[in-house]
Amino acid sequence: MTDTATAVATAHPNIALVKYWGKRDEDLVLPLAGSLSMTLDIFPTTTSVTRCPGMPADTVTMDGHPATEAVARRVVRFLDLIRQRSGCGDHAAVDTRNTVPVGAGLASSASGFAALALAAATAYHLDLDTRGLSRLARRGSGSAARSVFGGFALWHAPDPDAPDPDAASYAEALAGVRVDAALVAVLLDTDPKPISSRDAMRRTIATSPLFPAWLCDTRLDLPRMRAALHAGDLAAVGEIAEDNALGMHATMETADPPIHYLTGQSYQVLERVRALRAAGGNCWATMDAGPNVKVLCPADQAAHLAQQLTTATGYRTIVARPGPPAALHPQAETGR
Ligand code: DP6
Repeated sequence: MTDTATAVATAHPNIALVKYWGKRDEDLVLPLAGSLSMTLDIFPTTTSVTRCPGMPADTVTMDGHPATEAVARRVVRFLDLIRQRSGCGDHAAVDTRNTVPVGAGLASSASGFAALALAAATAYHLDLDTRGLSRLARRGSGSAARSVFGGFALWHAPDPDAPDPDAASYAEALAGVRVDAALVAVLLDTDPKPISSRDAMRRTIATSPLFPAWLCDTRLDLPRMRAALHAGDLAAVGEIAEDNALGMHATMETADPPIHYLTGQSYQVLERVRALRAAGGNCWATMDAGPNVKVLCPADQAAHLAQQLTTATGYRTIVARPGPPAALHPQAETGR
């Protein structure tokens, strides 16, 4: 039997309620602070990895087309890590499918690297538990460490004096969450990102005078967020999440040169969220490295809120609920 192996895995994007913005180690992708997210039940990424003995190089396709050079380079670097760990030098054929509507600007390196980590670890016979898988996914993209888990996930920053910081930085599922939340994603028209989140993060840390203050706040936000989730206090969850996101964007906008991910359309949606709240609504906004605004709300109010936001702004909306963990497709032939 030829020793090929194919594994297929699906993972979902996650949205951080306490953000990851800043690394203490670029190579190991170690964060400066912990973060906490909700995995979504929309826009999954499905990735297949076929290990091909004798193939001279890796191939990477995305939605049926050859991946861009930048994406392919990142995937190959990730596969190099897997080859080094597994002791198997085979190249692989990687095929990734996203379900994000074209132009929605919600494509996620988190779901992508979580799915790739699970499929590649399986195809190369790495025997990992979920913590090990989370640490591996982290090397591809920090936020991917959290997409290994369904529901709410907490990604630990290593203590500054941790003897093995790589081993200390993993995500885990947050048990005991008592909020019943949904996120309404407002889909704005998007141009390609002005700058990758990786580069933006680096520039922010190096040049924003606000970054140290935001980092201090984030370290305090994390235990407060956990407590609010455990207490079932969605208003506190929403307030912490919105403040944390706006603070992160303030650090970017005060970088040199400044980084503007939020557009006039984003601010229009933010205004609307504030107006709804002023009128007694339960809704709080969060934004990442792009213009789209995601609005946190009680699950039983999400459909109505989505309709209100669409009517008021004219933008398409989609409701997301807490989603599942990364999972392998059972039909995969691992060739072991
Ligand atoms: C704004 O995980 O994409 O979405 O580790 O450099 O790949 P790299 O960055 P990435 O950054 C995500 C940043 C964020 C906030 C978050 O998800 O916590």
